[in-house]
Amino acid sequence: MRYELTQDLLTGNNLIDTEHKQLFAAINDLLDACAQGKGREKLMDTAKFLNNYVNKHFSDEEKLQVSSNYPGYPPHKTFHDGYKRQLSDATQQLLAEGPTVHALGQLNQMAAVLISHIRTEDRKLAKHLKG
Ligand SMILES: [Fe+2]
Repeated sequence: MRYELTQDLLTGNNLIDTEHKQLFAAINDLLDACAQGKGREKLMDTAKFLNNYVNKHFSDEEKLQVSSNYPGYPPHKTFHDGYKRQLSDATQQLLAEGPTVHALGQLNQMAAVLISHIRTEDRKLAKHLKG
């Protein structure tokens, strides 16, 4: 299965939506590399890209929150920090054990958490940014 930024996940903020699209593409690339039995180097590259992109995206969102005095910033930032740690753990496990059912399950679980965060919290943020 491929992750897609469906209509219900759009926030209406161009930067945020564009980055979410890239994020889904990065998750798909890593899952494709696993499904196609790509070598360790390709898995490492895609896992690294995904982690870096998540960091960049979260930091962009946090800048928007700070500059717009977003009242929901503290819990949103706490979520981002925890998510970065969990994603890093999940991808490290994936690299350590290979694309096992367990490791892939964890990665898909991380995608599900991200999707629900986008659907609720990021849409709330975009609404605030619109003013
Ligand atoms: Fe967020």
